Amino acid sequence: MTASTFAPLAPDAPWVVLKFGGTSVATVESWRTILRLASARRAEGMRVVVVVSALSGVTDALRALCACPAAEREVVLATMVARHRDLAVQMQLADTEQMERWLASLAALMPDGKAVEGRLLASNHSWQAAVQAHGELLSSSLGAAFMTANGVATEWLDVREALTARELPFLNARARMLSAQVQADPNPAFAEALAARGGVFITQGFIARDAAGETVLLGRGGSDTSAAYLGALLRAARVEIWTDVAGMFTADPRRVPGARLLQHLDYEEAQEIATTGAKVLHPRCLSPCRRARVPLWIKDTRHPDLAGTVIGPQPAETVPTVKAISSRRGITLVSMETSGMWQQVGFLADVFALFKQHGLSVDLIGSAETNVTVSLDPAENLLDSDVVAALAADLAKVCRVKVIAPCAAVTLVGRGMRSMLHRLSGVLAEFGRERVHLISQSSNNLNLTFVVDEDMLDGLSPRLHELLIRAGALRTDDAGLFGPSWQELYGTGAVQARQPWWHGKRQRLLALAGINPSPSGRGEGGEGSAEAGGWSRNERSPALREALRARPAAASRGGRGGNPCTPRYVYHLPTIRERARALRAMQSVDRVYYAVKANAHPAILGAIAQAGVGFECVSPGELAAVDAIADARGSPRLFTPNFAPRSDYELALEGPESRVPGAGTLMTLDSLHPLEHWPELFSGREIMLRVDLGRGLGHHDKVRTGGAGSKFGLPLDQLDGFLGSARENDVRIVGLHAHLGSGILDASHWPLVCGQLAGIADRIGSVRCLNLGGGLGVPSHPGEAELDLGALDAALCEVRQVYPHYELWLEPGRWLVADAGVLLARVTQVKQKGTINYLGCDAGMHALLRPALYDAWHDIVNLTRLGAPADTLYQVVGPICESGDVLGADRHLPESGEGDVLLVARAGAYGESMSSHYNLRELAPSAVIE
Ligand code: LLP
Repeated sequence: MTASTFAPLAPDAPWVVLKFGGTSVATVESWRTILRLASARRAEGMRVVVVVSALSGVTDALRALCACPAAEREVVLATMVARHRDLAVQMQLADTEQMERWLASLAALMPDGKAVEGRLLASNHSWQAAVQAHGELLSSSLGAAFMTANGVATEWLDVREALTARELPFLNARARMLSAQVQADPNPAFAEALAARGGVFITQGFIARDAAGETVLLGRGGSDTSAAYLGALLRAARVEIWTDVAGMFTADPRRVPGARLLQHLDYEEAQEIATTGAKVLHPRCLSPCRRARVPLWIKDTRHPDLAGTVIGPQPAETVPTVKAISSRRGITLVSMETSGMWQQVGFLADVFALFKQHGLSVDLIGSAETNVTVSLDPAENLLDSDVVAALAADLAKVCRVKVIAPCAAVTLVGRGMRSMLHRLSGVLAEFGRERVHLISQSSNNLNLTFVVDEDMLDGLSPRLHELLIRAGALRTDDAGLFGPSWQELYGTGAVQARQPWWHGKRQRLLALAGINPSPSGRGEGGEGSAEAGGWSRNERSPALREALRARPAAASRGGRGGNPCTPRYVYHLPTIRERARALRAMQSVDRVYYAVKANAHPAILGAIAQAGVGFECVSPGELAAVDAIADARGSPRLFTPNFAPRSDYELALEGPESRVPGAGTLMTLDSLHPLEHWPELFSGREIMLRVDLGRGLGHHDKVRTGGAGSKFGLPLDQLDGFLGSARENDVRIVGLHAHLGSGILDASHWPLVCGQLAGIADRIGSVRCLNLGGGLGVPSHPGEAELDLGALDAALCEVRQVYPHYELWLEPGRWLVADAGVLLARVTQVKQKGTINYLGCDAGMHALLRPALYDAWHDIVNLTRLGAPADTLYQVVGPICESGDVLGADRHLPESGEGDVLLVARAGAYGESMSSHYNLRELAPSAVIE
């Protein structure tokens, strides 16, 4: 118990208000935390006010005490006394005089209606307030004694000196005493007087006094509000709300464990999130801070070093993003319909008068020509079925009424919601599958709310969270804004996201990009790496060859002023092997074929063949690429072209692999045309049939391959015709195939396809195997969940039990190679236009088409400045003469300069294979590393 020696405070030392809730004051350990935090602030040269709630459970006990018959009060009171005395013993307090005084004053209040502190109480509500106030009076007395005894001289402050309730005419007598509001404007005189008294204070949350000097309560969440009032009054440097969570999250973490901590919010956004569902902060506590421009921090007592959520004024420049999904249950909708409403003057005035009459406040409003629907929020209304029924009866006199309950309101919160609407199509589609009763967009452009049936809520929030991230509407790449996930902070088990392989290979990659400590400059493959083999991808187009012949000097530099090493793809073979092993280990899948179109690098094909994976090819070129790989000689192959010319099929049937025993190429047909027009090619052979299951899925419209709008697969209404033609021509259908699209992260997709194919296969009779296609997605946005391969395997095993007579095949491309590849680029120029920073690099849409074609998201990092704060917002663009040549929009990167190496992540699939000579630029070369 040594007294801390703090340096004297400067005359203008700032104030800080620290608030601790009931669980944070209930044990000695938690008081030690308070002591530590308060001393730390004081040591930083701040004046400290600690605001505390009653010990956990005490307010409820006091409320119960007010409600129970006088005869039973003694028992409750005795428990209360024992609880506080016990804690005082544990705290080893020598001085409990003040606590004892409050215990005595509480006991004196037990026969209600008595005078308190010599003054006569005005009403039963006053009595309840006086009784319940004792929770905080007691806890703060214990705190003052404990802190002082432990070295931090702490003055007990009666908060009623500082906070006076406002006279609000709309409050009834009960609310005036039990849910009062305080007008807290900065009061320099009060601050000065307090500063003269000391440097560390402890005071009560939840209570204030009214103009007559009687104790009033501030209602639920009142202690947060007290801290905010005091912060405003003292114009504190900040108010810190210490609690058991790190702050506000992007969604309710109990439903969405991947929900991310929101590290910054402006007052209005925080207000919106608090009002629409988040429980961590009482919505009322924001406006005092906002008015006085006092920042409010939410901090976790268990993770004091974590930044938590900082709420303050709106920052000058931000990228619009959805910040949170919040939800409220127990919403009642009242739908009012009248054919006469249109242009009927005063209809709304009439119906709203009835709401007022029944004391109900309306929250959301949706209106159509003949219908107005409004929501009643239980947080704002004392909703019981009698009140609603009485309202409905009155409304029925002027319109047709329907009460819809229970509903839930799901709200997307973010500044600039309207400018994000184009990103929300996936989210809207999700709602489209459900019954939405009402949609409302707030006039402050901060929220978009959907009212749905309450029972939908549990499943909906995680799906929406995922969709928002995927759509780039919830910009989880902004590491300054979105902190760790709930799971990472509080989850059990290993949830820490794995670092991508390239983190450990920075030097190697910089060397491959031409930043080479060795003088050789080129060919820095070195140990364990191999430069791209000389297959067709590195050949120049005839036009480029011609052009470069005329300019040999430029050619050797990859274009004038260009870097010979970038743009360049680099592939990490161990990642590919690991992926191949994981697929081969699936219990439910008999064969895996790699979709060569994703990446046909010879070293990749070799590694995949060695892992026992077959190949799915769609062109003679792809077949030839596989033929060229020694390790792929015996690998099974599929040929799955679409609208290919007859000559392609002929070529595939004659290919060298068909001469290798057991390794023949199995042909997949997906229309009637080949059978009807070239039956001789297939006669006497076994084939697969690709069907169209009528729907498509995937990361973008352009990669969804189902339904009449897509050119793939045999429509099922032509199945009988196909079977007839096959019979006629002695063609045996041994397999059924469906591939509905690419970039699917929902593991339930393939079992569904499997069930459907099995149903069709049973009708055909000759089918042995079901090829469920590829499409296995990889997450692209930070924080997006991985496809759960284990769940997929388990679900497919279940389907297999129903259809044990079929082999199951998969033919993924992306999943095997995407994560293994990065694209390296060098910064060419930077340019500012207005407020926009353009960061130019030598990799444009010719090197990586996916962002331009699909709005695909690839993480981009500045490898040269890896780890530097990513505090500059860039549009990362390439050198191609199109406005669509944007590699990444609105990217947070360290301030970057010419020559810096950028790394574009997850570029192993459909990157190099879709690159082109556009603008007569060279193809990006590639390297593989171990
Ligand atoms: N099977 C068939 C019949 C396919 O058409 C495809 C891909 C696959 C398998 C492999 O799909 P994966 O597992 O890779 O999703 N360029 C687009 C992707 C187009 C996919 C075309 N077909 C992209 O960059 O996202």
